[in-house]
Amino acid sequence: MTQSVFAPWNDPKAKPLIQFRNVTKRFGDFTAIDNLTQDIFEQEFFALLGPSGCGKTTMMRMLAGFETPTEGQILIAGEDMSNVPPNKRAVNMMFQSYALFPHLSVWENIAFGLKREGKDKESIAARVDEMLRLTRLSKFAQRKPHQISGGQRQRVALARSLAKAPKLLLLDEPLGALDKKLRQDTQFELMDIQEKTGTTFVIVTHDQEEAMTVASRVAVMDEGRIIQVATPDVIYEAPNSVYVADFIGDVNLIKGRAEKRAAAPADTTAQPVETPQPPATPAAQVSTQPVDGPQPNEIGEWLQNKLLFPILGKRDPQPKRLPPPAPNTDSRPAKPAPKAEIQPGGLELHWAEGQPPIIASNGDPDLAGQTLTLALRPEKMSISKEKPTAPNVLRGAVIDIAYLGNLSTYHVQLDNGPMVKVQMTNIRRIARRDITWEDVVWVSFSETSGVVLKG
Ligand SMILES: Nc1ncnc2c1ncn2[C@@H]1O[C@H](COP(=O)(O)OP(=O)(O)OP(=O)(O)O)[C@@H](O)[C@H]1O
Ligand SMILES: [Mg+2]
Repeated sequence: MTQSVFAPWNDPKAKPLIQFRNVTKRFGDFTAIDNLTQDIFEQEFFALLGPSGCGKTTMMRMLAGFETPTEGQILIAGEDMSNVPPNKRAVNMMFQSYALFPHLSVWENIAFGLKREGKDKESIAARVDEMLRLTRLSKFAQRKPHQISGGQRQRVALARSLAKAPKLLLLDEPLGALDKKLRQDTQFELMDIQEKTGTTFVIVTHDQEEAMTVASRVAVMDEGRIIQVATPDVIYEAPNSVYVADFIGDVNLIKGRAEKRAAAPADTTAQPVETPQPPATPAAQVSTQPVDGPQPNEIGEWLQNKLLFPILGKRDPQPKRLPPPAPNTDSRPAKPAPKAEIQPGGLELHWAEGQPPIIASNGDPDLAGQTLTLALRPEKMSISKEKPTAPNVLRGAVIDIAYLGNLSTYHVQLDNGPMVKVQMTNIRRIARRDITWEDVVWVSFSETSGVVLKG
């Protein structure tokens, strides 16, 4: 992405727009939100992700003022919201079950909030038309909600919540009923609206891809608590727990007992693991070679001595050799690599009987001795029929192949171990791919491909 760095959460001077301070929400003796503290900044696109019932809607309803926290405080722009009713908050919420007015047309539904604000007719009409265009509803402006489809109704609700251009917009599953293409288009529209208007969005979605696309930060929730808040790439590449790794995207979780690996020797840490030897010079090579080439016979000797010597001088007994190849200046590893250079340090994971341990040089050595989980994304692994040279090479058999057009996912049963998924880009036409069901294959990955997590 070419975005300039927008990261107010890293700026200690930045003032959050929204502050949850030790907020707990109970319904009877059930705790829906559990002592939650979280800041959200102006112009953020903050996504809440989590399983059904984890408290996402409850968080939003408290922000909008439809529920009050049992304990703790919510501040918006520094102001405590405890005694501020919903209609006095600079917040607009599009509900998960958006209620359109059934007796009003699409156009009137979108105009409703603007009319209540007492805007003049012309600016209302201009704004409604703009929202209709944005959500591609212009054709349906005069229909009633029961005369349009579910996805179209959802777009009306979205248009209605955007019409007032609120400073803070809460969207609870706003695009759930849209097909993939329209959904993607609307995601980009939302990002565009946000850039143009500076609106702060808090969005709930079940669609991880959507969260990854639109969000400045993603909060992964479980049972009323936020487990991790981070930018989408960090959530994906550096999950802080097995729960988050498993919740976001496809992942292989391999459990094993961790042992510490030898660290790099202190004085060579700044150097490459193996110091390359200078290539032998041609001269040195020639002088040390024994004379093992073809030698002249008697006729040859006679020809040399009588005929060629006066012209060419003394015969060189050394057979002619090609100079050795020039030293390789290509920084890419040679193919096939003669030996995998493996970073020292970290952990090795003993995960299956009779299998070599998995090397994770990025694992925290302090966790040695524990049973840990390696979280490994399918696209960070390779699969091949010949045993490759790689830091981690595991044997298994192909159980299933899912062909997804641009990608194929191989389900591989590792010897004495779990089933893993390996994803490969289909650069060849399908007929030429050589791995098929029941093949014995090698699954390989680097020593830093996985993330070692507790639990
Ligand atoms: N008014 C209420 N009375 C009692 N329990 C409630 C009430 N509202 C929500 N809950 C409970 O609080 C928990 C959190 O609900 P919430 O609606 O916030 O979940 P959610 O994360 O939005 O789930 P979903 O993804 O299914 O929409 C659920 O277990 C729910 O049953
Ligand atoms: Mg909900």
